[in-house]
Amino acid sequence: MQSLANKRVLVVGGSSGIGLATAIAASEAGAAVTIASRSSEKLEAARAKLGANAATAVLDTGDDAAVSSFFSGNEPWDHILVSASQTASGPVRALALADAKASMESKFWGAYRIARHAKFEERGSLTFISGFLAVRPSASSVLQGAINAAVESLARGLALELAPVRVNTVSPGLIDTPLWGKMSEDARSAMFTRASASLPARTVGTPDDVANAVMFLMTTSFATGSTVRVDGGGAIG
Ligand SMILES: NC(=O)c1ccc[n+]([C@@H]2O[C@H](COP(=O)([O-])OP(=O)(O)OC[C@H]3O[C@@H](n4cnc5c(N)ncnc54)[C@H](OP(=O)(O)O)[C@@H]3O)[C@@H](O)[C@H]2O)c1
Repeated sequence: MQSLANKRVLVVGGSSGIGLATAIAASEAGAAVTIASRSSEKLEAARAKLGANAATAVLDTGDDAAVSSFFSGNEPWDHILVSASQTASGPVRALALADAKASMESKFWGAYRIARHAKFEERGSLTFISGFLAVRPSASSVLQGAINAAVESLARGLALELAPVRVNTVSPGLIDTPLWGKMSEDARSAMFTRASASLPARTVGTPDDVANAVMFLMTTSFATGSTVRVDGGGAIG
């Protein structure tokens, strides 16, 4: 297993949820961690959980010039995680086309821009986050599945193009993160209870569950072009 001690780790989308949990885990493993996202307030709140050694960077993955200049202005990275996205959900026939396109723009093209401009140390790694709907479609979230499948396919191709930099994807199931914060407490709790009852793992996931898989991919030098599912059995249940 590769050590993360003193490695430069960038978490794009590191101010919340899966990204923040990974940033904390990498930091505890001795990495020099930088978290990036759009909101300086969220970044500062996250840094309080990471300790004074962590760095922050305001960065919008939708802004190609900003992504390019961010990587030009920094030393190469050992490991990068992209967990940044903001997507709308809904059936194809009901979701406004503009919202659907904005979702693809955020999650797929955001990851693509990072891959296009990122600078890595020779044995570095890039990890994306997809989602189990890529392989287990839902009639009410068809778009999410298509975006996640595109992200996984992007990673597999990049594992060839960027070699020997390793490129992988972690595919989560339902994870209790601030992503669900816009739902009412009652609706969210009902959704988690329903999911826990039906999933083979009989529970929803935590950000740490997903961070654990990202850490495995960052530190395992023979893992590339792979998708690791951490979905409580959602893809099979
Ligand atoms: N939670 C789940 O149940 C679940 C399930 C399957 C897949 N996933 C996927 O896992 C990934 C992480 O989700 P999460 O649950 O950790 O969500 P989250 O808690 O909402 O975190 C999303 C992060 O992305 C950042 N972000 C959003 N748009 C950005 C942009 N354009 N540029 C830079 N940063 C941006 C946000 O910070 P700012 O607002 O400061 O930019 C935040 O730090 C997403 O791709 C999501 O689709 C989540």
